[in-house]
Amino acid sequence: MAIAGEYTVAEDQIRFDRPAEERLYRALYDFWHPVAYASQLKDDKPLAAALLGESLVLVRLDGGVRAFRDLCVHRGTALSLGWVEDDALRCAYHGWKYGPDGMCTEIPSRFGTRIPPRARLTRYEAAEAAGLIWVCLSGEPRHPLPEFPQMGDPDFRIIEVAPYDWNCSMPRRIENYVDFAHFAWVHDGVLGDRREPEVPDHGIERAGHELRFDHPGLRRLLPESGGPGQAGPETAVDVLIDYRLFMPNTVLLDHRIPALDQRYLLFFTVCPTGPKTSRCFTLQGRDYSHDEETDRELREFNALVIGQDLPIVQSQRPEELPMDLSAEVQIKGADRVAVEYRRWLKEIADGTGADADAT
Ligand code: FES
Ligand SMILES: [Fe+2]
Repeated sequence: MAIAGEYTVAEDQIRFDRPAEERLYRALYDFWHPVAYASQLKDDKPLAAALLGESLVLVRLDGGVRAFRDLCVHRGTALSLGWVEDDALRCAYHGWKYGPDGMCTEIPSRFGTRIPPRARLTRYEAAEAAGLIWVCLSGEPRHPLPEFPQMGDPDFRIIEVAPYDWNCSMPRRIENYVDFAHFAWVHDGVLGDRREPEVPDHGIERAGHELRFDHPGLRRLLPESGGPGQAGPETAVDVLIDYRLFMPNTVLLDHRIPALDQRYLLFFTVCPTGPKTSRCFTLQGRDYSHDEETDRELREFNALVIGQDLPIVQSQRPEELPMDLSAEVQIKGADRVAVEYRRWLKEIADGTGADADAT
């Protein structure tokens, strides 16, 4: 196969622009990130989470989700070990109580003592949307929260995949999720076919805070009885897929299967828990077969696919996605989505282009 590489460079030009990756990591403080499913956070119990190396405690107080540093200012205990009491967060060690604004309201070892002004928690911006809890560490998100329009639509049944942690950076994981050329190899017989490894031409454009693109020529092996997760003898059907990549960490895939008059959705979002670690959340939606057996089959299908990706993505070096396009070899057309994703990430890291205003 002839390779025409607009972005291909000679080996002696390959370099790794590490400061840019560090700038990107710092810039991620200015974005919303998913930290838990909303369903994981109960009314009476706080929940530990992690984001960009920071330990968080999530808690429902005063009718909303709050996020604080998971550290009691008295003796540094994790507040996620505590509990909710009288619309306040109670520390498990000496029982200090913190209100919805993070101020300490009670010190049981000396009732009535003046509460020092420093007895307050570090609070972060938190929101609940699309079935998830999101946190922005800087408190000034550059982009709005990602959209999942079908959430709450009774035509769609939406299920959660258990969160999973991978030893890879968030951008490597997202890029893998939108990588067309690997379907035939990593997911042969599942999402692709090694006898048809070529990536079809496809459009890609920026729309607001999203990259939008499609995969027009995909034929997937699906059971004759229905979409992914449906049991039955397999046959190849055309699947039209539209992608919305909400920069920099969330993908909404909209699969349309005209032959079966079905839609299948994946809302996939990745939390950068650290520079080289990620927590992945997936919501699967469908407008067919709202039964639990299909839930189970869909979860099994998802587990099969991510199990195939796991060793590949965790093996990638450097763990950070290179911002410099010449650091790795890009193939014109086939790697178009990755190129546009990396270009935009570089703008985010540098505070230029579409992301210049907010920095
Ligand atoms: S460490 Fe939290 S109350 Fe003492
Ligand atoms: Fe994959």
